[in-house]
Amino acid sequence: MTYEIVKIQNVVKQYDKKTRALDNLNLSIKKGEWTSIMGPSGSGKTTLLNIIGCLDSPTNGKVIINGRETTGLKHNELTRFRRENIGLIFQQYHLIPYLTAVENVMMAQYFHSMVDEKDAIEALKRVGLGHRLEHVPMHLSGGEQQRVCIARALINDPKILLADEPTGNLDQKNGEIILELIRELHHEGHTIIVVTHNPEIGDMGQKKVLLVDGKISFKNNNYGG
Ligand SMILES: Nc1ncnc2c1ncn2[C@@H]1O[C@H](COP(=O)(O)OP(=O)(O)O)[C@@H](O)[C@H]1O
Ligand SMILES: [Mg+2]
Repeated sequence: MTYEIVKIQNVVKQYDKKTRALDNLNLSIKKGEWTSIMGPSGSGKTTLLNIIGCLDSPTNGKVIINGRETTGLKHNELTRFRRENIGLIFQQYHLIPYLTAVENVMMAQYFHSMVDEKDAIEALKRVGLGHRLEHVPMHLSGGEQQRVCIARALINDPKILLADEPTGNLDQKNGEIILELIRELHHEGHTIIVVTHNPEIGDMGQKKVLLVDGKISFKNNNYGG
């Protein structure tokens, strides 16, 4: 059964007196849906992703993720909730330079927990990096580093995968490998939210959201094909 796995209600994020990054935002996302978030630089895309991903809290409003109101959770509760529900994929891969691919996945530093080596190896195989387990980031291509990041995001099999410009630092060929991987994860039933500047990547979403000045200026459902 599909249900709304992400519900954002009247969310405001005020960084300082002058900067209102999100301005009374409302957004619902169905389980299993692929949503693209687009908009000019500074429009609040990363702020919105961070709030959905439980990395940041809104100044005002309500956030309900997978039936749980996350606004009001204490820091350690939020961390545990994130570990169990959210996978994060960044434009900058945030890998630790002196650790191997396996160790980087084991660290899963955003979850503050150690992961089994067996699970880490399995996740790396899943993204086609079974032959790069012992490589440090410096000896991996950009595309491979991003795949390590995706492997790390897949630990704990999160229902929701969030990606902020996942192909922003990659050439076309490596970008396509990453998008193919995201497509597979979508087919497996993950809910996918991708922030992108690239209109072609935006079109891959079943739903497109355009942010301008912290407000949704356009929403489009595309269940045609
Ligand atoms: N930690 C922060 N402190 C103060 N202002 C911030 C912070 N993070 C983002 N902003 C501001 O909030 C607005 C939205 O930023 P952001 O969400 O990063 O936009 P986008 O990802 O769409 O480029 C911008 O004006 C940005 O300068
Ligand atoms: Mg951003």
